Amino acid sequence: MGIDGQLFRAVVGSFPTGVTIVTAMASDGLPRGLTSNAVCAVSLEPPLLLFCLDKRSNNLPAILETKAFVVNFLAAERGDLATRFASPTGDRFAGTHSVPSAVAKGAPILVDDIIAHAECLLEQAIEAGDHYVLIGHIEVGSSNGGTPLMYLRRMYAAWPDAKPAPRDEDIHG
Ligand SMILES: Cc1cc2nc3c(=O)[nH]c(=O)nc-3n(C[C@H](O)[C@H](O)[C@H](O)COP(=O)(O)O)c2cc1C
Repeated sequence: MGIDGQLFRAVVGSFPTGVTIVTAMASDGLPRGLTSNAVCAVSLEPPLLLFCLDKRSNNLPAILETKAFVVNFLAAERGDLATRFASPTGDRFAGTHSVPSAVAKGAPILVDDIIAHAECLLEQAIEAGDHYVLIGHIEVGSSNGGTPLMYLRRMYAAWPDAKPAPRDEDIHG
């Protein structure tokens, strides 16, 4: 028993997220990468994050073999890359500029397209239904304060100009 796939997508798709491209370096010397929004902080000490990866993913062997990956947090104007890295056809890395992560075994850091990144070593791979929950220990990271790409109900958007939430005394006098 449980909700059907359509309702599942509608429910979880109602939760706005950022958008990342998770990359790894495969044993054939070619980079791999896919669009992922199922990314979440796990632990501060030690610094851990997770992302969820379909068991059928072409990225899975590279991540499991190297035990390493990079999470590239996309900038607002890079919806095109998010679409490309979710597509089954085409050269995903065409025209991108990247730097190989030394600690993450050569996984590409998409330096021109991101507002932050995390270079991770794989700590745990937990089977969960048709996905793996991959937990990474963040060895190196960066954050440049730029505007992130967001995702909600199959739509991309730039994070809007944020306004501070009102204080309690402003509402109640
Ligand atoms: C916004 C967005 C978020 C996605 N998030 C995930 C995700 O978290 N995990 C996942 O396995 N697939 C996710 N996908 C789907 C993959 O990007 C897509 O299936 C891709 O083709 C997989 O490539 P691969 O088989 O080369 O790994 C997402 C797609 C989009 C458009």
